[in-house]
Amino acid sequence: MKGNMVNLGVLVSGSGSNLQAIIDNIEAGRLNARIKVIVSHLPGVYALERAKRHGISAVVIHHKEYNTRQDFDQKLVEVLKGHDVELVVLAGFMRIITPVLLRSFPMRVMNIHPALLPAFPGTHVWQAEVDSGVKFAGCTVHFVDEGTDTGPIIIQAVVPVYDDDTADSLNARILKQEHKIYSQAIQLYAEGRLEIQGHRVLAKGVPRVPESFMINPPAGRFDP
Ligand code: GRF
Repeated sequence: MKGNMVNLGVLVSGSGSNLQAIIDNIEAGRLNARIKVIVSHLPGVYALERAKRHGISAVVIHHKEYNTRQDFDQKLVEVLKGHDVELVVLAGFMRIITPVLLRSFPMRVMNIHPALLPAFPGTHVWQAEVDSGVKFAGCTVHFVDEGTDTGPIIIQAVVPVYDDDTADSLNARILKQEHKIYSQAIQLYAEGRLEIQGHRVLAKGVPRVPESFMINPPAGRFDP
């Protein structure tokens, strides 16, 4: 497989379906990475069960035991460095991270967000997407910077929004794409193809997506 083997540290808060997709892609030999450690800031979450099932080291750093976000992040850095992590992968990690982590892993922290950033940053995204009336939604993998969901965008996937969608049905449609593009972004990193220019991330040597379009609702007679 192409690229250097990348040591990952995956940070989770909940179910960890993105974590599972990454594990599955690694085990299937599609992704040139290994997960050195999984860190949860909450005990008892299902992502920890997934870690156990796949024999991956897991650590709980309970945020309540730290007085400040910085202290918490300092501990995170210690654990990640202690496991020889190169790339930090936030997979449904519901904590704001601070420069303490970012300075130790500059442009080496990735996040996935269930919207076509820079639209719909923050939380409660699926309901906001449905309520806003947009006809397309999607997901974004980006490098994390000091803002909330503002870092340089690596990859995006687009899905349609249907008239009868609820937050849950849209979430499910977007999640399917998340499970593909997170591994794809990590593999591009492993292959050394991601070049950051200003706020843009260029994917060097990757074929262009063919020029195409989707129209929602369909164009009918105007698209013969
Ligand atoms: C996903 O919706 C992701 O976009 C967001 O948190 C959720 C994670 O889900 N950042 P899971 O824990 O990977 O199942």
